[in-house]
Amino acid sequence: MAKALLDVLRVQRSARRPVWLMRQAGRYLPEYREVREKAGSFLGLCYDPGMATEVTLQPLRRFDLDAAIVFADILVVPHAMGCSLDFVEGEGPLLSTVRSAADMRVLHCDGKAWQFERVYETLQRVKAELAPHVALIGFCGAPWTVASYMIEGRASDRALALEVAEAAPKWFEDLVEQIIVISISYLVGQIRAGAEVVQIFDSWAGDLKPASRERWVHAPVRDVILGVRAVFPDFPVIVFARGLGSGHAGLAVATAANAVSIEQGQGLAEVLRAVPDGVVVQGNLAPEILAGGEDLLAKDTTRICSEVPMGHHIFNLGHGILPHTPPENLSALLRAVRLYDSGAP
Ligand code: CP3
Repeated sequence: MAKALLDVLRVQRSARRPVWLMRQAGRYLPEYREVREKAGSFLGLCYDPGMATEVTLQPLRRFDLDAAIVFADILVVPHAMGCSLDFVEGEGPLLSTVRSAADMRVLHCDGKAWQFERVYETLQRVKAELAPHVALIGFCGAPWTVASYMIEGRASDRALALEVAEAAPKWFEDLVEQIIVISISYLVGQIRAGAEVVQIFDSWAGDLKPASRERWVHAPVRDVILGVRAVFPDFPVIVFARGLGSGHAGLAVATAANAVSIEQGQGLAEVLRAVPDGVVVQGNLAPEILAGGEDLLAKDTTRICSEVPMGHHIFNLGHGILPHTPPENLSALLRAVRLYDSGAP
């Protein structure tokens, strides 16, 4: 059976406008909170293939979505490289920091990590359970965003990481190179385990000045994609480089991604006009609107659908679902997309 997400990424006629949502598995679902509590910790959940499979599938049971995204985190990569990692309740991630050539010596990037094996097993289990029209998405963080967490050691304003990126010492170049190498092997492993599309998350791309973006966003993301496609030619890749504003088309050219995911507030039609032929856009409803009332939600969903034609658009948010989002709002969103595409008044 055809999968709408894969059809759109190949710019083939699709049965419908594919919809999936960043962080579609998560705290806004009571059944997620229940499993999360049983797991005890967020990382415990990520590394338990049985429970991770369950939470990956939960949103698919409630909503008619077109893709599942494997439940894991972008910080699995630094963990697999030898950084310590903990998720502290109410604080977010805490990692051991990498701030010098000496700190680099403890890292490894051979790609053979037990953490990765757990994620691969989750992908295999999820794949076996998916309905035939649902695509399976694998993912990793982009080198700049992952490196910024490794330098800062926590969610932050990235002041230190930005200073390092500007000064570009040799150890930072090496760090980015190591993240590229390990991300390629992690994504290749995910694809072997059943991922049909991969998304690369560069959540902090917008922080860098334009000249640094080419060096630390465009080039590393391009290298990761080239590495994946050296093993799986033409493999479909979505890049979410948040905050690039008018820079998404340049990113699409530089990386040869099949789709660019766009933050809220940026016109999708404008990006679609500017990207090379064959590239599609993903996005970009504001998570605050999904969390809010039904009227504005239906209006904004319809506006987004009318901006870009069905075959060139993957419906998604501009960023992840907020934890206080009422689950029934996702049903309202899906109704609004399907109603728009059916041409009903
Ligand atoms: O459903 C999905 O989208 C798949 C799972 C997924 C998670 N994180 C689960 C998660 C994905 C794709 C991510 C990506 C991720 N992780 C990013 C990139 C996207 C973005 O949001 O910009 C980043 C920057 C991270 C790092 C991260 N993970 C932070 C800063 C935090 C703490 C903040 C928070 O939301 O709690 C996390 C934790 C996290 N990752 C949770 C989930 C469901 C919440 C933890 C919990 O349930 O206790």
